[in-house]
Amino acid sequence: MSRTPFVAGNWKMHKTASEAGPFVRDLAGRMPEGVDVAVCVPFTALASAVEAARGSRLRVFAQNMHQAAQGAFTGEISAAMLVDLGVHGVLLGHSERRQYFNESDAALAEKLDAALAAGMEVILAVGETKREREAALTEQVLATQIEGSRAAEVGDRITVAYEPVWAIGTGRTATPQMAQEAHAFIRAQFPPAAAGGLRIQYGGSMKPDNAAELLAMPDIDGGLIGGASLEAEPFLAIAAAAVA
Ligand code: PGA
Repeated sequence: MSRTPFVAGNWKMHKTASEAGPFVRDLAGRMPEGVDVAVCVPFTALASAVEAARGSRLRVFAQNMHQAAQGAFTGEISAAMLVDLGVHGVLLGHSERRQYFNESDAALAEKLDAALAAGMEVILAVGETKREREAALTEQVLATQIEGSRAAEVGDRITVAYEPVWAIGTGRTATPQMAQEAHAFIRAQFPPAAAGGLRIQYGGSMKPDNAAELLAMPDIDGGLIGGASLEAEPFLAIAAAAVA
């Protein structure tokens, strides 16, 4: 099955609302054909990013949300709040959220449901740590994350990002073969009806100079880009590589 490639930038805790507007306007004016492109931006920059992307094919995603519809959760943001701003989707389960903010698979299952019910697209991030890979636990970890978040049940409506934790922000990418193996394994966790159409992004030090060889692998359908998404040129170069 042919899948439209999908490249998303994850800005993490970078860019103010005032910086996001002109940056997104520039990106939105230069969208390559044949690839879906999104930026996952901090909560405070969402409104200006949505406004700047209006009328273009660039999608604006949040980087997290709370699973409850509303309530006494000081400091949290609901799906309805994001949708009301014109936000298109949400990145869930990034390893930094799992590691530093105790994001659990059980909470992710609820977040997935809440985001999809609100009509948002979801990118669900999964991936093993260095220690887990060295202990040959990669497949077990990926299977547990997918099972625990009940992602397979909604596999026809989400994108999965495979991000080996040891490759994030380190300049150490997985080799194309290593990434392909993990992607094929992830795809096999989904029911046949969803697996063929499921888009699986690779994330972890993807840059313009290594994107093409990763994206050439049969089960790598795009990228989740951290550092290289903070400037337009490398980010657009990676998006263009996904089409080639
Ligand atoms: P990186 O980050 O591209 O800077 O390694 C990827 C991510 O964390 O999504």
